[in-house]
Amino acid sequence: MKKNVLLEQAHEILRGLIQKNDIMVDATMGNGHDTLLLSSLAKEVYAFDIQEQALVKTKEKVGTLPHVHLILDSFEHIHDYVKNYRGVIFNLGYLPQGDTSITTMHDVTIRTLTMISSHLVKDGFIQIVVYPGHPEGKVESDAIQQWLKTLNPHHFQITETSFYHQDNDPPYMMMIYKTKDEG
Ligand SMILES: C[S@@+](CC[C@H](N)C(=O)[O-])C[C@H]1O[C@@H](n2cnc3c(N)ncnc32)[C@H](O)[C@@H]1O
Repeated sequence: MKKNVLLEQAHEILRGLIQKNDIMVDATMGNGHDTLLLSSLAKEVYAFDIQEQALVKTKEKVGTLPHVHLILDSFEHIHDYVKNYRGVIFNLGYLPQGDTSITTMHDVTIRTLTMISSHLVKDGFIQIVVYPGHPEGKVESDAIQQWLKTLNPHHFQITETSFYHQDNDPPYMMMIYKTKDEG
């Protein structure tokens, strides 16, 4: 696979953050690269996708492990399965080498991010890799940027990692850290 510095950095951040007692959620399992990494770092992993193909690919990569739960459902239903997670990661867009018309949709993504961010406890985090280089990805990226502005800076710290000089709306990563509980 072609070297992708952004995804390497995303994984490096996860290696630094996740502790062995953490429960982690992979909101978009896709081909299973992220689920595989989480499975080596966390106590338990809940991975979601709306495509059967993603579960097949991920199972090929990760195998059957008792602490890894592969779930065929939309990420908006995460709380039906798990609530005591430390963090949630999103790698948005469509399945590489798959059906590009099945992609994350901005309204569902924003609804889910709102739900998760208000549920996170101190030291929890969300990682989002965003792909504005395709039409729905651009709409989603704009919606995410608007939504991030609504997060209270007294409770959240947010960082962005982006390519410096690539053309055509390259992907970028947002890290959202809950640094203080509300109230
Ligand atoms: C870029 S891929 C994820 C790549 C993956 N993390 C990996 O390591 O290979 C995006 C995935 O999001 C999935 N997806 C789209 N909408 C979704 C939703 N509402 N809930 C869960 N997964 C969704 C797509 O089916 C696709 O497999």
